[in-house]
Amino acid sequence: MGDPKLSISDSRTGQKYDIDIRQATVRAMDFRAIREDPEEFGMLVYDPGYTNTASCTSRITFIDGRKGILRYRGYPIEQLAEHCAYTEVAHLLLHGELPTQHELDAWNTEIMENSMLHENIKKFMDGFLYDAHPMGMMVSTVAALSTFYPDAKDIASKSNRYRQQVRLIGKMPTIAAYAYRKSQGYPYAYPDWDLGYSENLIHMLWNGTRRQPKPEQAQVLARALDTLFILHADHEQNCSTSTMRQVGSAHADPYVSLSAAATALYGPLHGGANEAVLTMLEEIGSMERIPEFIRQVKAGERRLMGFGHRVYKNYDPRARIIRRIADQVFEITGRNPKIDLARELERIALDDDYFVKRRLYPNVDFYSGIIYQAMGFAPEMFTVLFAIGRTVGWLAHWEELMNDPEKRIARPRQLYLGPDEQTLTPIEQRLGQAREKVS
Ligand code: SDX
Repeated sequence: MGDPKLSISDSRTGQKYDIDIRQATVRAMDFRAIREDPEEFGMLVYDPGYTNTASCTSRITFIDGRKGILRYRGYPIEQLAEHCAYTEVAHLLLHGELPTQHELDAWNTEIMENSMLHENIKKFMDGFLYDAHPMGMMVSTVAALSTFYPDAKDIASKSNRYRQQVRLIGKMPTIAAYAYRKSQGYPYAYPDWDLGYSENLIHMLWNGTRRQPKPEQAQVLARALDTLFILHADHEQNCSTSTMRQVGSAHADPYVSLSAAATALYGPLHGGANEAVLTMLEEIGSMERIPEFIRQVKAGERRLMGFGHRVYKNYDPRARIIRRIADQVFEITGRNPKIDLARELERIALDDDYFVKRRLYPNVDFYSGIIYQAMGFAPEMFTVLFAIGRTVGWLAHWEELMNDPEKRIARPRQLYLGPDEQTLTPIEQRLGQAREKVS
């Protein structure tokens, strides 16, 4: 019987081809056998933005975009967000299993003991202008860590990879906090190893400042941050994770690979959307101006940031959870009035054919910024917070790539539409040609 086949007949040659179908997928390389002329390179599969291309196999995260399902290692995101600490989920993503309490305690100790940054990093960060965007500081500093840990180049060693993974998970919140403190003109606050992962971030950000929350408030804010980090921890082959795999496939070390991934996340169509949502809501300003804004979106003059998704053609399950924890945070921070604007925008959009027809729903970024702002974060910090949560996802996919028997350097092909061979004209004769072309 063998595998089911995709039978293709090429009308150019009358040739027939049977291509194996495995798990509802065909291998692109099997199309190379299809040629009009035996001398040809063979058939390519053209897929701008990789909308329908599986770049790898993975066992980390499963998404069903039609049903709005998201699972990390098989566990529904709703259960993980409800019952787990962020470092517990980080252990699940990286190691493949939820930890026992003993394993979690050891894991937390390892991470916190790696939360300190080399003192020279402060000198490096001092070089940025006072108003440097914290994402620019983060991606540069992560890449700079590559020079502090040259042993990270030994990517063939599992134990060495693990040492860098723990360093990065431990240090990302410290880099974020340093970037924030520098932007405020505050002295840096060192990590406190006795605190939890998110509590320590709150400590490094606001200790000794007017924003320092009371202990009971810090607990609630830390729990909310933990949940937000869990929701942002992984999302299969999104733009930034694919970038981590692309750069990692060249055997670059994990610091420069993760810096590249964070750079992709910085894009406003990707992780930068949470900052763009706040800017959009500030621009709309009032309920009365929503209809005009929606008109501009439907006219194609702008995008409704925080809406739409390449995979989810249903409500992003993360957005639903974030929408729900907003009220818990507001009990501590006070209500962010932008939530009312966002909820009205969502109500109108979900009732409008333009969005319904294109299956555009709120994604993870639509509400997250409103909560971060209520917590006291400036919009420039929102994507930095996204990067902290996503770090373990990037590293889990990198580790999976390092162990993938099919791993090879990522090098897509292209569909060339440029000129055929030309003969070079000596420069003294070119001016006339240029003038002719322009006229
Ligand atoms: C994240 O991949 C991931 O998993 C990402 C992420 C993760 O966890 O890693 O989930 C995080 O990046 C969430 C997405 C955050 N970005 C935004 O909120 C920016 C606004 N959204 C869009 O730009 C857009 O929806 C994307 C980029 C998210 C998805 O783009 P696609 O899949 O390439 O969709 P498209 O651009 O081809 O749009 C299809 C149609 C177009 O209309 P037509 O040309 O068919 O008439 O939908 C329209 C688009 O104009 N459209 C929107 C829209 N998003 C798509 N119209 C208005 N507002 C929008 N937000």
